[in-house]
Amino acid sequence: MTQLLAKNPEDAMTSLAPTVRLVHGADMPRLGLGTSPMDDAQTERAVAAAIEAGYRLIDTAENYGNERGVGAGMRGSGVAREELFVTTKLNKRWHGIDLVREALDASLERLGLDYVDLLLIHWPNPQQDRYVDAWRGMAKLLDEGVVRAIGTSNFKPAHLQRLLDETGVVPDVNQIQLSPLVTRGEARAFDEQHGIVTESWSPLGGGQTDVLKEPLVAELARKYERTTGQLVLRWHVQLGLVPIPKSSNPERLRQNLDVFSFTLDEADVAALSALDRGEGAAVDSDAFGH
Ligand code: A2P
Repeated sequence: MTQLLAKNPEDAMTSLAPTVRLVHGADMPRLGLGTSPMDDAQTERAVAAAIEAGYRLIDTAENYGNERGVGAGMRGSGVAREELFVTTKLNKRWHGIDLVREALDASLERLGLDYVDLLLIHWPNPQQDRYVDAWRGMAKLLDEGVVRAIGTSNFKPAHLQRLLDETGVVPDVNQIQLSPLVTRGEARAFDEQHGIVTESWSPLGGGQTDVLKEPLVAELARKYERTTGQLVLRWHVQLGLVPIPKSSNPERLRQNLDVFSFTLDEADVAALSALDRGEGAAVDSDAFGH
């Protein structure tokens, strides 16, 4: 692993993302690797390459079908388990006080781990109306220490408000679809007001990467002498968001992590935010979920 050693220990550190302290005390890296829609084999390669590049946060889900690949990539990396921050998510069939434990156990078995850092309810599925029970179960898992942090994904402020009203337990994280084209102002404000860290999925706009094709993004990339991907990821970081870009390309993996050594002018952050196409451009979690 000589390539990871730098003459100056400070240099070795610069390749890691800084961390943010979550409400229940865990420290989460401020940028991570998304793994959807990669299969086990692609995921294993991407996770290994990402960890070598300095990523320490890896995001997966039961629904992605690639938790085995995540575990294999982690074990092959040579980086100690406790240095890594692993997130997984459970599907709607596990929305129940005791069911969430079964979901966690099955994920741990596939990952080959004995704890995850962050467990998320993947979608609220309000038509099923059992996410509050799931949340009660997750709070128990947190108390028992088998997860370091608990959170939600695709929860709107109304869903989060119910969790707070009915359980009093604040999520550490709410992971939502978020990019300069879908800025989710209301959700971000609610999260911030309650000390919930907002994590951005499809931070570059997803498979179509529409965001990266925006003329303003290209113009600002030239101004700051960065790639379009770095420009957009830096926008997330400056808004206090934790982006989890997916890439299976080692060079783009490396570039995407390298967004902590430059700063966008506030006017440019605002100009990027003005690309917002509104809430209607996001997947509607009152209608969709699994
Ligand atoms: P690839 O795996 O070939 O890098 P998101 O994370 O928003 O869901 O977007 C992921 C998509 O964006 C993938 O198709 C990925 O393709 C591509 N991608 C990831 N990083 C970059 C980048 N820096 N520049 C351009 N495309 C990127």
